[in-house]
Amino acid sequence: MNVLVTGGAGYIGSHTCVELLNSGYGVVVIDNLCNSNPKSLDRVRELTGKELTFYEGDVRDEALLKKIFAENDIGCVIHFAGLKAVGESVSIPWKYYDNNLNSTLVLTKVMKEVGMMNIIFSSSATVYIADNEMPLKETSRTGGCTNPYGWTKYMTEQILSGIAFAEKDWSVVLLRYFNPIGAHPSGRMGEDPRGIPNNLMPYITQVAVGRREKLSVYGNDYPTHDGTGVRDYIHVVDLAKGHVAAVDYACKHKGCEVFNLGTGVGVSVLDMVNTFREVNQVELPYVIAPRRPGDIATCYADPTKSREVLGWTAQHDLADMCRDSWNWQKNNPMGYGE
Ligand code: NAD
Ligand code: UFG
Repeated sequence: MNVLVTGGAGYIGSHTCVELLNSGYGVVVIDNLCNSNPKSLDRVRELTGKELTFYEGDVRDEALLKKIFAENDIGCVIHFAGLKAVGESVSIPWKYYDNNLNSTLVLTKVMKEVGMMNIIFSSSATVYIADNEMPLKETSRTGGCTNPYGWTKYMTEQILSGIAFAEKDWSVVLLRYFNPIGAHPSGRMGEDPRGIPNNLMPYITQVAVGRREKLSVYGNDYPTHDGTGVRDYIHVVDLAKGHVAAVDYACKHKGCEVFNLGTGVGVSVLDMVNTFREVNQVELPYVIAPRRPGDIATCYADPTKSREVLGWTAQHDLADMCRDSWNWQKNNPMGYGE
């Protein structure tokens, strides 16, 4: 069976292509490369020894989507394509609503027309309201997002669950990712952010490799075990395997289901810094800086439903994540760009 992977050249998409091909699925990718490099797909081919089909283009291009469905026998869609920079979404909200919502609307319109209605969507823990009790269950309260990016995830969940409620042929799986980090253990694929990284791990690896002077730890006065922010970091290969499990589930069940993809383990910024230093034996200068606006103290998953229903559990621990992130960065100091 072929899986259409939108945004397949991106960080999570490329790792998922590897796991799909290794599990025997055919892979068709559509990506407009607005935040990725097509070399990632060459690395997918290299690591798997298998071919995939790549269409360079925009998911909002209805004619292109129709062509892709006409030329390939697609059995399921994984919809990664989206813009994800939280800060940019605050300054240019229209761009985010247009890209992230219209891509889903055009995609689902074409899927309905061709009669293939199985879709996995990349949602985020950002849809959970900040004052929920931890750990977060799929039934925890959602909404109250603090930025347009978060709202696009929340609204896309509403769009897809509404469609599945109204039309019983749909199979919708909403995957709420916690904090994906790490890289393929080969060191050939990883995260390659453009500009100054917003997220913790790419910032750490760029400090370690000498591209940035030091890490700013945003706040050490949170109500956590060491005062720094606590998150649920998940290895990108585990996340990718969660998608393979979700494809299997979507092909066997109708309706709409939501799953957390996290480890259930809360890790602070200083836990991360210390583990990275120990595992990789590298220097990692840091300073304590003020809190970053919009950050919450603690966020981690209850992954029980994913384990019980999808049969999926994260296998990698924090040391693996630190080792593989560093292996990618040190072997590719400028990402795919050199
Ligand atoms: P990424 O930017 O590396 O990958 C997204 C890909 O989509 C890129 O290759 C980009 O070029 C492509 N794209 C964007 N808009 C497109 C469009 N209209 N048409 C075609 N291609 C388009 O991001 P990622 O980290 O791999 O994230 C994948 C998905 O997971 C995104 O939807 C993101 O919001 C979601 N997500 C990511 C995280 C995270 O921390 N990385 C957390 C939760 C959810
Ligand atoms: N942090 C630092 N210094 C940095 C970067 C981050 O101390 O340079 C801290 C943050 O304050 C936070 C932790 O590291 O405590 C993690 O921050 P990230 O930016 O890596 O991740 P977030 O949890 O803030 O955000 C991520 C995604 C968002 C998504 C959100 C909720 O980047 O897209 O999870 O799912 F919305």
